[in-house]
This record gives sequence, structure tokens and C-alpha cells, in this order.
Amino acid sequence: MNDAFDFSGKVALVTGSSRGIGAGIITALGRRGARCIINYVEDKDGRNKAEAGAVANLLPSSLLVQCDVSDWRQVETMKSFVQERAGGVDILVNNAGILRDRTMKKMTLDEWNAVIGINLSGPFHCIKALAEVMRPEGRIVNMASVAALGGFFGQANYAASKAGLIALTKVAARELARQRITVNAIAPGFIDTDMTKGMPEDVTKKFVEQIPLSRFGTVDDIVGAALWLCSPLARYVTGQVIHVNGGFYMP
Ligand code: NAI
Repeated sequence: MNDAFDFSGKVALVTGSSRGIGAGIITALGRRGARCIINYVEDKDGRNKAEAGAVANLLPSSLLVQCDVSDWRQVETMKSFVQERAGGVDILVNNAGILRDRTMKKMTLDEWNAVIGINLSGPFHCIKALAEVMRPEGRIVNMASVAALGGFFGQANYAASKAGLIALTKVAARELARQRITVNAIAPGFIDTDMTKGMPEDVTKKFVEQIPLSRFGTVDDIVGAALWLCSPLARYVTGQVIHVNGGFYMP
């Protein structure tokens, strides 16, 4: 029997895979045979590059590519890199994302634009560019959020970006079906990563009280859903949102 989670012969690109959920997904795909392209964005102190290098060390024959997904030109350059160095791509996970929480009254236009630029325009850029070099039976997974549906206080930019990403997922699923590419979203609840570490303790406690499974999720909880969506087991699933949140939100 074929192993549905053997990704040998596949090329996978995960945006923002230098740490957190992205690093977890690219590592899991690589350990199951995929040729991995690790994307990071340059930062002042070089932390992202160093962390991406550490992920690459775990994955022999992986490639590293610097690209700010909010910048269309950089994404075009990343597409050429993928084509030249890996001959195309089979799996694209649009994972890169940021938070800049603040009430609308205090939110600056820069904070609004930065979140929309990375969380929503980023996946649009990557889908538009990389679909051109994606092979049939390809998989696109977009990292949305429960925030898209919850409309939590102080998250106008983040919630709008993730709700937009869900809409983009559905449109892309229809448009790319003719290339036999599936496009789905994962909507994680609260996952224990750098992104949630900054939350005040009392806020974290209040949220945990509302989660039926009584804990924040782990990176591996999201990895499981991503592996399934990328596998042949999910070949008839497209345009869907998979909620992975311990029961916190039930559609
Ligand atoms: P994280 O902050 O640990 O990782 C985000 C990654 O995106 C980092 O590697 C970062 O360098 C990268 N990144 C940021 N801007 C970028 C850009 N312009 N271009 C390329 N890469 C860029 O966050 P985490 O928790 O791993 O989040 C991953 C995704 O999951 C994000 O889209 C986030 O919105 C989503 N998510 C996370 C949840 C959580 O509770 N941690 C809950 C729901 C969704």
C-alpha cells in the first residue's frame, strides 16, 4: 500500500518557514521526502535568516530563499528561483503572517497596511506567481485564523486580512481547479508560538477557559491538518476552511 504521507518527488515551499507553524510544516514535509524551499524575510538583526538556516540544517537538499511576500517584485524573483532551482513546485503553504493589534481609534495606517500587505496581499502574490510554475495535482494551503470569524477586539487589520484570505481561498479553488490544484485554508485557534507568547497572562487564561479541549494548540496540531491537505487523501477537498482550534469555535 502506498504511504499517503510520503512526499518524495514533491517540491514544497512554505512562506515564513523560519520559525513557528511554518517551520513545523516545512520540517514535517521534508522529513517525509519533499524537497523543501524555506522562505524567510530579511530583518535588521538577521534573526530570521539564522533561524531559517537552522531549519535548513535539519533538511538536507533544502533551499533557502529570502522574500518579503508583501512585495510583488520579490515574489516574482522567488518564482524564478523556484523554477530554476527546483523545476517548479507542488505544494505552496501561505503561512507568513504578522499581528499588529490595536483599537481602530489608535491603529495607524502603517499598521493597517502592513498587516493587509503581508497577510492578504502576500498570499495573493504567491498564488498568482507560483500557480504558473505549479504542477498538476498541486496543493495550496493558506493559513487563515479563527480571528477571521471571531472579530476579536483590537484586530481590525488582522481579522480583515484573514477573512479576506478565506475569500481568496475560495476564488483560487475555483480558478485553479482546471489545473487540478486544490486550494484550502486552515483556521487555527490559539497556537503556542512566538505570536501568542506576547499575550497578557489573564487574557490567555480567559481564552483557555473557553476552549473545550482546555489548552492552546501546538505547532504539531496544525502540522497534522496541513499534511492531510497536502496528501492524496485530500484530493477531493478544495475551497474549504479546516478549523483546528480545540473546539473554541464551531461553525
Ligand atoms: P510566527 O510569528 O512565529 O511566524 C510567522 C513567520 O512569518 C515568521 O517566520 C516571520 O518571519 C514570517 N514573516 C513575517 N512577515 C513576513 C514577510 N513579509 N515575508 C515572509 N515571511 C514573513 O507566527 P506563527 O504563530 O507561526 O504564525 C504562522 C501563521 O499562522 C500566521 O499567518 C498566523 O497569522 C497564523 N495563525 C497563528 C495563530 C497562533 O495562535 N499562533 C492562530 C491563527 C493563525
